[in-house]
Order: sequence, then structure tokens, then C-alpha cells
Amino acid sequence: MDVFEAIAKRHTYRGPYRDEAVPRTDLQRIVQAGLQAPSGKNAQTTTFVIVDDAQLVAQIAGMHPGNTAVQQAKAFIACVIDRRPEAVYEGHAFQVEDCAVAVENMLLAVTAMGYATVWIDGWLRLKGHAETIGRLLGVPETKVVRILLPLGRPAETRPQREKLPFEQRAWFNQHAT
Ligand SMILES: Cc1cc2nc3c(=O)[nH]c(=O)nc-3n(C[C@H](O)[C@H](O)[C@H](O)COP(=O)(O)O)c2cc1C
Repeated sequence: MDVFEAIAKRHTYRGPYRDEAVPRTDLQRIVQAGLQAPSGKNAQTTTFVIVDDAQLVAQIAGMHPGNTAVQQAKAFIACVIDRRPEAVYEGHAFQVEDCAVAVENMLLAVTAMGYATVWIDGWLRLKGHAETIGRLLGVPETKVVRILLPLGRPAETRPQREKLPFEQRAWFNQHAT
């Protein structure tokens, strides 16, 4: 699958997974795609915990009853950033952007490899979920789980959500008024 096909096929998946484990080699390949993402000043601020231990997977899965993909995940990738980011360029830190771009690389890899996931972010910030998962995964207090990706082979097909047309969001040379 080339990159444009992966971009076209990538979609958020909150549905059920097939009962198939995700091999470590595939998990490693997905995270490698994240490691190869750009980062401000090449500071490479995001770190990753790949969760494939059945007990840990079940503990995290049980925390989010509203999301089938989380509940049925065969593995998780937890993306971790510093709570107090270090400035890397003229007083500016880019750790949120670094994390987001690493995740997008992983979403494309996930799609190209026939897996499906959902970018879990908002829910982590509620009721101490990020902290609970951080403690389960041995994340130091100075860091926080910023994005969580459940993983598995999708049991159902879902289309990408419709996107606004080019003309409504992009222009040459001058932004529309
Ligand atoms: C920054 C960001 C935060 C998101 N947070 C969540 C989340 O907490 N839970 C969730 O189910 N989906 C989350 N999503 C997925 C979006 O809801 C999804 O990308 C959007 O509806 C568009 O659908 P698509 O990914 O299929 O194009 C998040 C996506 C982004 C980029």
C-alpha cells in the first residue's frame, strides 16, 4: 500500500476486533514508524510503552466500557510525554506536536498493515485515567500518557468519515475571508 492509499484508508475505528493476537514484530514495526517521525529540533521527546501482556491489556481494556475497540484491544501503544516540556528552540517546546506526528505515522502504518485503531486522547484526561494507566505501565511521575492506541484486526469495515472539500479548507496564496 502506498502512502496516499494509506492516507485514504485510515479511519478511526471504535468497533470490535477479531480474536487474533498482534505479533510483537508487527507492534515493533508500527512503533518504529512512530520513532521515525519528525520532531522539533529532532528532540524525539515521545516515548512509547507497547502493552501486550494479557493481564495489563485486560486491566486497561476494562477502564473504558464505552469504547469497543479499547475493550477488545489485543494490545495497546501508550505514547508518553514530559509533564514539564523542555524548551528546544528559542524558549519553545514541541512535545505535543512531536507526539501527534509520531501517532499519525503509526496510524498510517496500522492501516497499511491491516490493523485498526482509535486515537484515545480526551478520555485519558478525565478522572485520572492517564495517571492510572501510567502507574500500571511504570511511567515516571514526571511523564504522562498523552495518547493511547488500542490495536487489533478489525472485525468490521468502517469508511473514513467525510472530509470537507479542498475548496472549503485550502487555498493558493491567500486565505479566503
Ligand atoms: C487530537 C485528537 C484527539 C482525539 N481524541 C479522541 C478520543 O479521546 N476518543 C475517541 O474515540 N476518538 C478520538 N479522536 C478521533 C477523532 O474523533 C476522529 O479522528 C475524528 O472523528 C475523525 O474521524 P477519522 O479519524 O475517521 O477521520 C481524536 C483525534 C484526534 C486527532
